[in-house]
Amino acid sequence: MNDALSPFLSRLRSSLDDGSLVQLTLGHPSAPASPLRKLLIRPVTIRGEMRLGVVSRFVTRDETKNYPFPEAVALVQARLGSEFLSAHLFTQSEEVQLELGKKHRLRVTQAARAAATLEHDRRRVRWVAPQSRYLQALEVTDSRGKVRERMGDKFRQIERFVDLLASAFHESTLAGLDRPLVMADMGSGKGYLTFAAYDYFERVEKMAAQVTGVESRDDLTRLCNRVAQECGFSGLRFVCSPIADYPLPALDILVALHACNTATDDALYAGVRANAAIILAAPCCHKEARPQVDHAKAAEPLRDLLRHGLFAERHAEMATDALRALLLERAGYRVRVSEFVAAEHTAKNVMLIATRRRTPLPPEAIADFDQRIAQLKTFYGIQHHRLEQLLMDGRQLEGSGASPVPLPEL
Ligand SMILES: C[S@@+](CC[C@H](N)C(=O)[O-])C[C@H]1O[C@@H](n2cnc3c(N)ncnc32)[C@H](O)[C@@H]1O
Repeated sequence: MNDALSPFLSRLRSSLDDGSLVQLTLGHPSAPASPLRKLLIRPVTIRGEMRLGVVSRFVTRDETKNYPFPEAVALVQARLGSEFLSAHLFTQSEEVQLELGKKHRLRVTQAARAAATLEHDRRRVRWVAPQSRYLQALEVTDSRGKVRERMGDKFRQIERFVDLLASAFHESTLAGLDRPLVMADMGSGKGYLTFAAYDYFERVEKMAAQVTGVESRDDLTRLCNRVAQECGFSGLRFVCSPIADYPLPALDILVALHACNTATDDALYAGVRANAAIILAAPCCHKEARPQVDHAKAAEPLRDLLRHGLFAERHAEMATDALRALLLERAGYRVRVSEFVAAEHTAKNVMLIATRRRTPLPPEAIADFDQRIAQLKTFYGIQHHRLEQLLMDGRQLEGSGASPVPLPEL
């Protein structure tokens, strides 16, 4: 073992022994074109037992597995130096950086930030606290803070959502924000996830947040505003409006979970226009592409896949979401697709996680996205995609001086 790896691994082991590990990241793949870009490793509690959760971050998706500590350390040892050439260890008291190149470098600094993050992590299981008043008021939990019998799936969904939100937040530049964070939840429904996000930022991250739920049903916005007031959530409000008509301010985070059909596209477009640093969208029903996907017009062997209505429907859904991902990438975002909740709980289990790039795309990357978007549409015979249309119209509006936010050329 090389002379820098060995002290690094001992530091990792001690941080596990004394419970001070916050997070470990392995990066800098030795094969530059590898689709696996990073491993993110954190302590997690699974049914009362401590494990290390290892997220394998591929270019467009994440895979998560949990390991007992010794197995996880063995995994780190096996992959560091071969598959990954850098590691970044955050413990409660220090930050340790390892670079494995021609010269190996191990740098240790005292880290006040790590301690704060650990505090978050210790509370991980309570990022969504079942005793919260809002969960009781929304009838997810009972008056003793116990999850109601039929609300188990909803509670798991809320937890998973906050997990994904927190992870996107920590990877973004928003974590050090010195002003209130601005977020909108489009199609907020009964507000379960809107309340959970607000509560997460204010209670766990200790940040001021201004969160707006946009919802077309007046009864739901009234209910949610009443609960927000009862809970003293002064930065949380709900407005009754169609997504497409609601004028958004500049945003940090846009969320759209299960907004019906092309309302997801309206929300994604609103996020791009509002220059959101993070966009989280879980698409719901997909009705736009299905009638356009015609097996009779498809070439073999695709024709045989689309011949069956159920398969055609699934292809139309995937094509719609893949186009959404490409369009967001073209608009200057990095996009990952994650499983929102396990497929056995709901078929609507895809989450698009988009984070805005710090630098604009070069023209050749834009041209490449244009080509890929056109190819995918042609492959499935898709003529209209609402998000594409909105982005194109927005671009024209901008040309007329009516758009507040510059949109990338489409
Ligand atoms: C399936 S619910 C999801 C609610 C919430 N986001 C969640 O995941 O728990 C979809 C919500 O979006 C609202 N909605 C659908 N289309 C909308 C639109 N175009 N504008 C505003 N709200 C919309 C519906 O009224 C409904 O409450």
